[in-house]
Formats: sequence, structure tokens, C-alpha cells
Amino acid sequence: MYSDKVMDHFENPRNVGEIENASGTGTVGNAKCGDIMRIYLDIDDDGIIQDCKFKTFGCGAAVATSSMATELVKGKSIQEAMKVTNKAVMEALDGLPPVKVHCSLLAEEAIHAALWDYAQKKGIEIEGLQPPKSDIHEGEEEEEY
Ligand code: FES
Repeated sequence: MYSDKVMDHFENPRNVGEIENASGTGTVGNAKCGDIMRIYLDIDDDGIIQDCKFKTFGCGAAVATSSMATELVKGKSIQEAMKVTNKAVMEALDGLPPVKVHCSLLAEEAIHAALWDYAQKKGIEIEGLQPPKSDIHEGEEEEEY
């Protein structure tokens, strides 16, 4: 059901933890499954993401996607980090089963929320960045049963 890469990042997640005095932190949850994700970013004066850590109270797919997402944004500029979408993370993990696609949104939204926090603190605007939603389930299409 899961690719080798997903299993690897689930069993050995990279960048778990927190960053003290982070440049930006973002927390998002999905009220539907109850999972929560927090991302910490350390951004230097040139706008480069020097470090990124995460903590999650979430399912295995959320752990694996967050682990991969932190790897993908490290060393990147803010604009490059904006391109780390859930789709890009899933591709880097060789895919996720369809029922688990929503889990990958937690990582993307948490990174955006952390970037938003950073921009607020700095008093800057990041092109294309929307205010974070605390619950990513909000606004999702109602699923039919
Ligand atoms: Fe909630 Fe995966 S089931 S994030």
C-alpha cells in the first residue's frame, strides 16, 4: 500500500523536534481526523531556510509527508519553499494511496502557516501566501458517503 520511501520516512522521520526562538512557527489541524501538525522554521537574514523541524500528532502518512516536506524546504529560499506543495511532497515520496492524500495537505499548510508567522513578525509580504487556516478541513468539499 505504501512506497518504500513513505515507509522509510515514517519509520525514520527526519527533522522531528522543535526550534527554540524559531523565525516562524505554524500549527494546523484537520478536525475531521483530529490530526495536528506544527512546523518550525529558522530563516536567516537572506531569507534562506536554514533549518526546519516538525512535530505531529498525526497518522503515518502525515509523519512521512512532513518529514519529506522539511527535507525539501531546508536550504531553500522562501519563494522556493512556497513551491513545496503537497503534490511535490507526494511525488518525492513516490505517491500516497488516494485516501491518504489529504494527510499531505497538513505539511503544506503548516509550512505556509509558519511562513505567514515569519512574515507577520518581519512586517513583510510573501507573494502568493494566504492567511493560514487553523483547520484544513474547512472549505474542503463535503465527501459523499
Ligand atoms: Fe489525519 Fe492522516 S488521517 S492526517
